[in-house]
Amino acid sequence: MSALPGTRILIGIGAGIAAYKIAQLARLLKQAGCEVRVVMTEGAQAFIAPMTFQALTGENVRTSLLDPEAEAGMGHIELARWADRLIIAPATADLMARLAHGMADDLLTTLCLASRAEKFLAPAMNQAMWAHPATARNARQLAEDGWQLLGPGHGDQACGDVGAGRMLEPEALAERLLSPRELPARGLRLVITAGPTREAIDPVRYLSNHSSGKMGYALAARAVALGADVVLISGPVALATPAGVTRIDVESASEMLAAAEAHADGADIFIGCAAVADYRAASAAEHKLKKGDDGSGMTLALVRNPDIIATIAARADRPFVIGFAAETRDLERYGRDKLTRKRLDMVVANDVSSAGLGFGADDNAAMLLWQRGDTIDQRHLPPQPKTCLADAILEQALHCLSCASPE
Ligand code: C5P
Repeated sequence: MSALPGTRILIGIGAGIAAYKIAQLARLLKQAGCEVRVVMTEGAQAFIAPMTFQALTGENVRTSLLDPEAEAGMGHIELARWADRLIIAPATADLMARLAHGMADDLLTTLCLASRAEKFLAPAMNQAMWAHPATARNARQLAEDGWQLLGPGHGDQACGDVGAGRMLEPEALAERLLSPRELPARGLRLVITAGPTREAIDPVRYLSNHSSGKMGYALAARAVALGADVVLISGPVALATPAGVTRIDVESASEMLAAAEAHADGADIFIGCAAVADYRAASAAEHKLKKGDDGSGMTLALVRNPDIIATIAARADRPFVIGFAAETRDLERYGRDKLTRKRLDMVVANDVSSAGLGFGADDNAAMLLWQRGDTIDQRHLPPQPKTCLADAILEQALHCLSCASPE
């Protein structure tokens, strides 16, 4: 079994005896390289402890909607947005009834309403309950609402009955969850620059900045999960390479430009996420510079670095080009200016003056600006984890590309 690395699967566990089998499902999904998070209904916890899933997934298990501490971490709407795929297993008759009516009276049903993930449901109940017209009606409604029903199977039941209503085995559920899905970025080639550049002054010193690379790495990971081929041209950062991404390490802006030009051929989207140093030393000293004994200062001559993104945008065979604008004020004005001046297709303008957002942080907020014919459209993206922001940016870019491509 294989999944695209990093596929994010949310498992919602209902109150059925088959809940104990979900431990095996979580294990199989983790082994296949998925990110897995678990939400349990109150009743589910009578069958198996949240701690089991915490140990298996390495993530906190959410059990309540009204939990200020958990909400302060990944809030329920963020969790709903986070998931690529969502499965409810075991799905009891009661859960199915509540979902079929669009109720949101606990964390799990609320998440289901809020999530645009691909949704699966593995019913598990007594055979008479499954055969009841009310359940049959709810199952039809859920299928109509876009849920994919997995099972139930037929056979011995915990209550002693024999018939339809057994939850499918974890292996069968995992196989469906790991099967390829509609991948909006399949066949697309993305080139992304990330992190800072380092401009040598001498063999031991350099000019650089505080970029952590997190935003570029989040974009690379999410683009792969959407099916794209991704080349990540990275300045020096302390981040692991996302699974499935081809990473090219560079140091200076000149090296980054050379790598970008080499890989831009045939690329569909180019994202300039790197914080490229605007200047470099006019000439890097061959040997370590020594300070004078007379206490005098020093003047370092700097020259402008090439503008990587503008160079790519100026190509005749240019890809769809997305740039970033880190600003401390007038986001929209500077964002629009950058879009036009560098001839970009889209700009992600973010305010780096707010505490907890932007440089080095895990969260960010941004204003997306993109060219639509002669007009510039815009969309505000509120504070959220950089991986969710990456999804929103890619979604908009794919939408723009699909509108631009001839039928
Ligand atoms: O001009 P400024 O640095 O504000 O522009 C930011 C955008 O341009 C980012 O997308 C950044 O990756 C890109 N850039 C570049 N090469 C440079 C400077 C910025 O690709 N030399």
